[in-house]
Amino acid sequence: MARTSDILARSHDTGLDRPEVPELARAVGVTEGFASDRTTLGNDVISLVNVQKRFGDRTVLKEINLNLKKGEFIALLGASGSGKTTLLRILSSLEVATTGSLEVAQNRSVVFQEPRLLPFRRVRSNVLLGLSKTDRNRVDVGAALAEVGLADHINAWPKSLSGGEAQRIALARALVRAPDLLLLDEPFAALDALTRIKMQNLVLKLWEQHKPGVLFITHDVEEAIVLADRVLVLKQGELAVDIELKADRPRDRSSAEFRDIRKILLNHLGVSEDYEFSKG
Ligand SMILES: Nc1ncnc2c1ncn2[C@@H]1O[C@H](COP(=O)(O)OP(=O)(O)O)[C@@H](O)[C@H]1O
Ligand SMILES: [Mg+2]
Repeated sequence: MARTSDILARSHDTGLDRPEVPELARAVGVTEGFASDRTTLGNDVISLVNVQKRFGDRTVLKEINLNLKKGEFIALLGASGSGKTTLLRILSSLEVATTGSLEVAQNRSVVFQEPRLLPFRRVRSNVLLGLSKTDRNRVDVGAALAEVGLADHINAWPKSLSGGEAQRIALARALVRAPDLLLLDEPFAALDALTRIKMQNLVLKLWEQHKPGVLFITHDVEEAIVLADRVLVLKQGELAVDIELKADRPRDRSSAEFRDIRKILLNHLGVSEDYEFSKG
């Protein structure tokens, strides 16, 4: 698999920076139609049965069973190296499962930790990247940018954007395709705490307006509880926990329920909140 940087370099050198270039579009997470057919998906946008992934003799995903319904918001937690990105890459057809059965809605968008904007294209062109000519004429980039609060940045160059702004453009690019499934891989991990809270609110607003199915990968327990309908924990290659969250949004981080769930999830992640003052 070519790395994004290779693809960007290559497309720069050769002029192959057309949206039709599948590798390029795939590198920024916007290509459609690589997963299996969706005819048997019914009310789901993800259906995984006994999915396993090995790298050589190392089994990263042992047995993954997961159904994500249309319009449902699932947060997936897991320690670093637990296989979260591997799972997301399988769902977005950047990686192939070793065994198991996998069905994923074809119309899906991915947002990565880094915004993956092409530096030699303006914001407008970055949002339209990977779309067919017909779709490019149909979609309203201005409206998508307005939704993420950046309507006046349509002609900006990526290098003029802050980290939070760049990630908002990545969200606009994902949403302009009206995906049935939105996959996000620690999208706010590189942002400062305040920007991060704003981005969480933005994601909730966009989800409530468009209602794609969402798989939001994070290692931040609070982020998962603030956002999701269900929180899963990936542990030793399996989905060890599946907690349904019923509290209305916006959720109160100081409520007893929030703290209880936080504690349970932290325990599953092998982190204890208890701490003793040193007696020395
Ligand atoms: N292409 C690959 N070849 C070999 N090992 C890999 C590859 N991709 C990921 N891994 C390994 O799989 C494990 C899970 O990685 P990853 O899915 O990135 O974890 P996470 O996103 O949860 O931090 C890690 O040990 C990583 O080194
Ligand atoms: Mg990862």
